[in-house]
Amino acid sequence: MGFARLTTGFRPAERLKCIKPSGIRRFFTLAQEIADAVNLSVGEPDFAPPRHALDAEIEAAKEGKTHYAPTNGVPELRQALVKKAFNDYGLSYDPHSELLVTVGGTESIFVAMFGLVNPGDEVLTTDPGFVLYGPCVQLAGGVPKLIPLLEENEFRPSVDDVMSLITKKSRVMILNYPNNPTGAMLSYDEVATLAKIAVEQDMIVISDEVYEKIIYDGSKHYCLATFPGMRERTLVVNSFSKTYAMTGLRIGYVYGPKELLAPLWLVHQYTVACVNSLAQYMALAALRGPQDCVSKMVREFNRRRHLVYKRLNEINGFKVALPKGAFYAFPNISSFEMSSEEFAEFLVNEAHVITVPGSAFGSHGEGYIRISYAASYERLEEAMNRIEKAVKKIG
Ligand SMILES: Cc1ncc(COP(=O)(O)O)c(C=O)c1O
Repeated sequence: MGFARLTTGFRPAERLKCIKPSGIRRFFTLAQEIADAVNLSVGEPDFAPPRHALDAEIEAAKEGKTHYAPTNGVPELRQALVKKAFNDYGLSYDPHSELLVTVGGTESIFVAMFGLVNPGDEVLTTDPGFVLYGPCVQLAGGVPKLIPLLEENEFRPSVDDVMSLITKKSRVMILNYPNNPTGAMLSYDEVATLAKIAVEQDMIVISDEVYEKIIYDGSKHYCLATFPGMRERTLVVNSFSKTYAMTGLRIGYVYGPKELLAPLWLVHQYTVACVNSLAQYMALAALRGPQDCVSKMVREFNRRRHLVYKRLNEINGFKVALPKGAFYAFPNISSFEMSSEEFAEFLVNEAHVITVPGSAFGSHGEGYIRISYAASYERLEEAMNRIEKAVKKIG
């Protein structure tokens, strides 16, 4: 999309020159225009946040906790978050200087880029990858270096590919497992190998772990910061959006060593000042309260995951692996001989089912579409029926 020339002669800032709107939004907007659309494009749970968290927010509002919060987050929430890092991963962080509460994981990534990347610095990230990373790197003046994620390697980075991209200018690597858009996860050995590369090459790692709790079949998520030499070079990004179905509350956080976190703190201070106070009390209650709401949600995602996996593989032309984490399936649609954009458009027009073309996540996403199974089981069944019927027309 180009920018319209204004009569005043004003132009958008040069730094926006190579930034395009996210390919997800276009399909999301289409969903609003079709009355009976089944929207499988959005990456958000269809659940409500836990009741006790909602109650806590209302209580906080009644108690007048509506003022500016401290820049790095309300103290009780920071305490609860450092406790979480210790309980979950045995990681100790100082609640004052090694943790920042942010406007979703989104802001954590943004401030990390602006706090750490110099013009010309190379930032390794994956292709396909979450739509935010590349533009954030570019806005900060950095150069994205894309690690291809291939289906034959179950969308996990190959050591050779990573090594071949590293130059003297490589400073940061962004990793995201469990992964959006592929649903892939990494084994202990794979995380250990990537960690070793980061240490040997003296790189900072931004580990986006917002799907840490949405995993299946008793598998284990390994936090990058727990590996030897990694605590001092890793920023762990996390969020309440997915785990507690709090996408609209816009609350996330980032842990890291003081030296790495201080620059993020500065950028955060001058962009958002602080995070919505009430949302922070809600997040606190979500963390302190019973966690069965999370396991219940994941059990339901698991049911949906199996439905999508089984139904798609039964439809001629689709090939999909069982996703290991998050709530996305990433089927191969190359046999339909359409680009992923054309195929997603075909599904909009013929099935009224909204997905996201794999190309929205990078050139290696071409030949795939992303299906979010965060919609209800019934809606997913309906979508699979419609896709099956529409695809038969291609014949
Ligand atoms: C991998 C990944 N990271 C970060 C985010 C940002 O989430 P939020 O800003 O809602 O915390 C998302 C949202 O879809 C995501 O998929």
